[in-house]
Amino acid sequence: MSVNTDKAVQYADEHYGEFLEDLKTLARIPSVSFPGFDPKEVVRSASAVAALCRARGLENVEILTLPGAHPYVYADWLHAPGKPTLLLYAHHDVQPAGREELWKSPPFEPTERDGRLYGRGCADDKAGAVAHTSAIAAWLKTHGSLPVNVKLIIEGEEECGSDHLEPFLQKYASKVMADAIVLTDTGNFDHDTPSITVALRGIVALDVTVRSMDHPLHSGMWGGAVADPVQALAKMISSCVDAKGRMLIPGIYKGIQKPGKAAEASLKVLKYPEKIFRAQTKLMAAPKDLLRSNWYQPSFSVNAIQASSKKDCANIINDSAWAHMGIRVVPGMNPDKTLAALKNHLKKNAPWGVSVEFSGETANPSWTTDTGAPAFAAARRALQKGYGKPAVDMGCGGSIPFVGPFAKALKGAPALLIGVEDPLSNPHSENESLHLGMFKKAIASAVHLYAEIAATGC
Ligand code: BES
Ligand code: MN
Ligand code: MN
Repeated sequence: MSVNTDKAVQYADEHYGEFLEDLKTLARIPSVSFPGFDPKEVVRSASAVAALCRARGLENVEILTLPGAHPYVYADWLHAPGKPTLLLYAHHDVQPAGREELWKSPPFEPTERDGRLYGRGCADDKAGAVAHTSAIAAWLKTHGSLPVNVKLIIEGEEECGSDHLEPFLQKYASKVMADAIVLTDTGNFDHDTPSITVALRGIVALDVTVRSMDHPLHSGMWGGAVADPVQALAKMISSCVDAKGRMLIPGIYKGIQKPGKAAEASLKVLKYPEKIFRAQTKLMAAPKDLLRSNWYQPSFSVNAIQASSKKDCANIINDSAWAHMGIRVVPGMNPDKTLAALKNHLKKNAPWGVSVEFSGETANPSWTTDTGAPAFAAARRALQKGYGKPAVDMGCGGSIPFVGPFAKALKGAPALLIGVEDPLSNPHSENESLHLGMFKKAIASAVHLYAEIAATGC
């Protein structure tokens, strides 16, 4: 096959409007994978992704199911004999919309404003799925073929913790076998700096229910005489951190590995002045050495807390209080041991003999990679061509449970994390958005990547 990458890039450029429509079509489906949300929407989303794969020329499109799991979508194009096979990853499930009244346009009606596309999943991670299908379409339309083989896997349960990766691999390991993985589910350092993510934190999380009674009591009749579970939970949470948010759980920082050589080099190169941090996060206080602490140090967070409600607030002592919390873990931290240490610490610091119950426990390890494989050099060339700027290596404070187990199942195949989010994307929050200029460049880079990998291997 004579490879003319420019022609494919030009096609992507000229047909960008169609690709943007593809993204809008997917983003109109509220495919929230959390318990309590309609799982049929995730099924509908999987069907829409499958239809898109077919429309863009992929073959063997299939919806992969497992008992109790949200559907994955699989598709491939495998007609480049002797060339590497790439496993292309994204996820089609999304986080809940959050507080609807805070959205400037409806969360599931993707809306363009000021060069960005606003809507839940527009960045995280339906843009990832569409970046893959668009780059594939650009090659198939201009050449009738791709320079490499591709297998596409679009997960349906990333946002709720990817609980079925193990059974998935048991059932489908041979189906997803490939020479490298390309994950489009991370971000760029900023909207015009192409970035390769070389480290992810892991996460352990759980639900905590603190109970002192089986029903609420009048706080005047009983206040002072019975244990208040909200105060108990507050004390337990505050026992986890000092006044600066540094964890106080015994042994938690023991064994943490120092960032490796490549990570140190990237920390040296990347500058993140406090002024920019404040502008991006709208936060008043910035931590010291924030990239290092965000990417290579653990952190504790409480994501939700509930006891009674604003609306029902009455003079009562609640029967129970609930919270969801977790710790982001880094290399050197064992997730199971970290979870056990957190539970142990919470129990030990529970006052007044309240009962403490744990549920919904998850534990995912951190992930890092070295970047010596030819696939990384190919990715750098592709990003340079797509963005017109050299790529940087960066870490990431977030987690993608898929990466570790799949890289291992693929016998240590390199994993390229090249994403479409930027610091203003606001994923998981209200008014999530995608930088459209960057999206276009990400598609062009993906077009280049296939040619670059074909030239040098993985
Ligand atoms: N796309 C994110 C991961 C991510 C976070 C990339 C921040 C770049 C910056 C992914 O969808 C995600 O949110 N992962 C979860 C994993 C959890 C549910 C196990 C996370 O990090 O909270
Ligand atoms: Mn994501
Ligand atoms: Mn996410």
